[in-house]
Amino acid sequence: MSFEIAVLKGDGIGPEVTDQSLKVLLNVASKYGISFDFTDGLIGGFAYDKTGTPLPQETIDLCKKSDAVLLGAVGGPKWDKAPNDKRPEMGLLSIRKMLGLYANIRPAILIPALKTECPLKDEIINNGINITVVRELTGGIYFGEKGREIGANGIEAYDINKYNEMEIRRIANVAFALASKRNKKIVSIDKANVLESSKLWRSVVEEVSKSFSDVKLCHMYVDNAAMQLVKNPAQFDIILTDNMFGDILSDEAAQITGSIGILPSASLGDGTLGLYEPIHGSAPDIAGKNVANPIASILSAAMMVRISLGLEEVAKSIENAVNITLEQGYRTQDLDNENYISCSKMGDIISQNIV
Ligand code: IPM
Ligand code: MG
Repeated sequence: MSFEIAVLKGDGIGPEVTDQSLKVLLNVASKYGISFDFTDGLIGGFAYDKTGTPLPQETIDLCKKSDAVLLGAVGGPKWDKAPNDKRPEMGLLSIRKMLGLYANIRPAILIPALKTECPLKDEIINNGINITVVRELTGGIYFGEKGREIGANGIEAYDINKYNEMEIRRIANVAFALASKRNKKIVSIDKANVLESSKLWRSVVEEVSKSFSDVKLCHMYVDNAAMQLVKNPAQFDIILTDNMFGDILSDEAAQITGSIGILPSASLGDGTLGLYEPIHGSAPDIAGKNVANPIASILSAAMMVRISLGLEEVAKSIENAVNITLEQGYRTQDLDNENYISCSKMGDIISQNIV
């Protein structure tokens, strides 16, 4: 069995963490008698410097003909002054949109070996943390009309937060289908006491819930949700939310599971093609120093083999190797500032721990 993987390493720590995933994937491939054909594609600031655009057509074509896409990270201060439509982030937003990847699945699980990294008190995390954020990824304020004009009080800038019923219905369906296979509980997060788009969100989610009578749905305002996540994270199983709230709450969920350096994500659409990336960014401050945590990328690779390639056993073996490595006490700098190993060493050990 052979799989074509588009590898978009991107900027900052993207290349160094993705290299560790490739190492691990090559190792599982030899153990499980499969093969991966990795092809690099340009994205982000690096692509902009080389080609004048953060998402060259070649990269889009490469992704479309691949079985899955593994992405590192995009962005960095170097491109702060780039025109809006050429910023590295535009490369990422455009590839999500062009591939129709509207469903972003972000599991935030407190790995037992990392319990001491969790900033919450023991009594709060006694029941563990196992949350999956289902974030709408190709609509809302990220993609609404935006602009600037001169008003009576100087420059005005706006970003429109617009959702239609179809966009809400399809992401709600993803969340409910997932909930049916888990603990049958969804918290849908919005700001329906203020925002019109959230009112529509709430009513469409209600409508979808009628087809999933065994799933318990409740709604929560986003400000309260941000508080509840640190007050009692165990009350959440599946969080269904829009693009912007999902971006913010998934970083919060990441921190309460120990470090943003360990959380993976899958971006999916209606087809089998998926894009897999850490939820962290390009971390320019530590880029090139070989101290980043590659675990989010490696766990993204595990999600990729499970979801897009259908290789459950291989996915489990990667996740087990990560758990074993953490149980053995190995830490990168984000997890232990005094006693840490390098990014590449972490990749080596996880790779060796594949059984
Ligand atoms: C994420 C990131 C991106 C987003 C940025 C880099 C555009 O923060 O994947 O969470 O906001 O979606
Ligand atoms: Mg984010």
